[in-house]
Amino acid sequence: MKIGILKETQNGENRVSLSPNISKQLIDKGFKVLIEEQAGVNSSYQDADYIDLGASVEKRGVVFKEADLLIKINPFDEEDLKLIDKGQILISQLYHKSNPELIEAIASKGATAFSMDAIPRISRAQDMDVLSSQNNLAGYKSVILGAYEMTKIFPLMMTAAGTITPSKVLIFGVGVAGLQAIATAKRLGAVVEATDIRTETKEQAESLGAKFISVDNEGETSEGGYAKEASEDYVKKQKDAVNKSLFQADLVITTANIPGRKAPVLITKEQVEQMKNGAVIIDLAAAQGGNCELSKLNEKVIVNGVKIIGTTIAPESVSTNASELYAKNIYNFLVHLTEDAKFKWDLEEEITNDTLIVKDGTIRNK
Ligand code: NAI
Repeated sequence: MKIGILKETQNGENRVSLSPNISKQLIDKGFKVLIEEQAGVNSSYQDADYIDLGASVEKRGVVFKEADLLIKINPFDEEDLKLIDKGQILISQLYHKSNPELIEAIASKGATAFSMDAIPRISRAQDMDVLSSQNNLAGYKSVILGAYEMTKIFPLMMTAAGTITPSKVLIFGVGVAGLQAIATAKRLGAVVEATDIRTETKEQAESLGAKFISVDNEGETSEGGYAKEASEDYVKKQKDAVNKSLFQADLVITTANIPGRKAPVLITKEQVEQMKNGAVIIDLAAAQGGNCELSKLNEKVIVNGVKIIGTTIAPESVSTNASELYAKNIYNFLVHLTEDAKFKWDLEEEITNDTLIVKDGTIRNK
């Protein structure tokens, strides 16, 4: 089977779905690997790096024409769809729940498509989970971005000229990104607090050295490890519990999401107006509408001296590591789905069933 790796075309995207090392591992498993020219260049991988390890580098049109299996990170777009043929297999993040037109378009081509963002959150699928591998890096980078925007340092510093007190960091949402943000801020010497609607995250936050702000969540539900929308009562209780810390924080990182829904607003304009002058909010949920009412995607908004940065570009900004991890997720996924470099099509199996969105032009699990 020939695997085609396409160069990402989305604005600001620096990642590539396969690294040279992982292409070698796939070749060793019996696959042929075709890489689009310059596909890895923004992740510091040159065409020669792939060629040296046995892959071939081709023009975009050739990759589309020859590959049995086409792989990307971002969803296939209109231009890609023009070049896709009946019978080809596509793998990328498709966000199928919020992207029905794309799924219809893929089906109308008679193609087959797997969505990497539909990998189930079960233990045996952890090494294929691109949301985790990428959000982990996003959590790290959000702290670095915050440090850059702040006018203070993180650690306690005793100098002859006086003592600098440590910065206070508050993290909303203790999922994959939030946990890495806690770990990173702690390593840099900040005093860290965190909160989440799922109380099972308390122990995880505390194990990394954060103080957990508990909010009574009786009556709130979660499913498959994911939060559901919070009640009005919870929103009020959460504000009462966090406001003291929020108004003293130097850096606030928000990571709260509800799958398939708009992100919950956790910080209102009224709350921002009571925050410290010079405080920074890094809103990692900005693409889903934002956890702060004032966030604007890919913009820096300043209100009453508080800088609010709505961002999603975190994994793309550490593209070498992000590509390496995405590639390893893809490798594990392909090893799971295939035998002797051929798909097994075990449709009863959970990971296959959940991720296979279109099979030979038919939309599954509509
Ligand atoms: P996510 O990106 O969907 O959300 C981030 C966090 O925001 C979650 O912890 C969520 O509870 C929290 N949140 C949502 N609404 C909130 C609100 N109103 N107030 C405060 N917090 C709110 O979550 P992510 O990072 O994808 O992780 C979800 C769960 O999946 C976690 O428990 C994680 O440990 C688990 N997981 C399991 C894996 C596996 O077993 N293969 C792999 C990765 C994650």
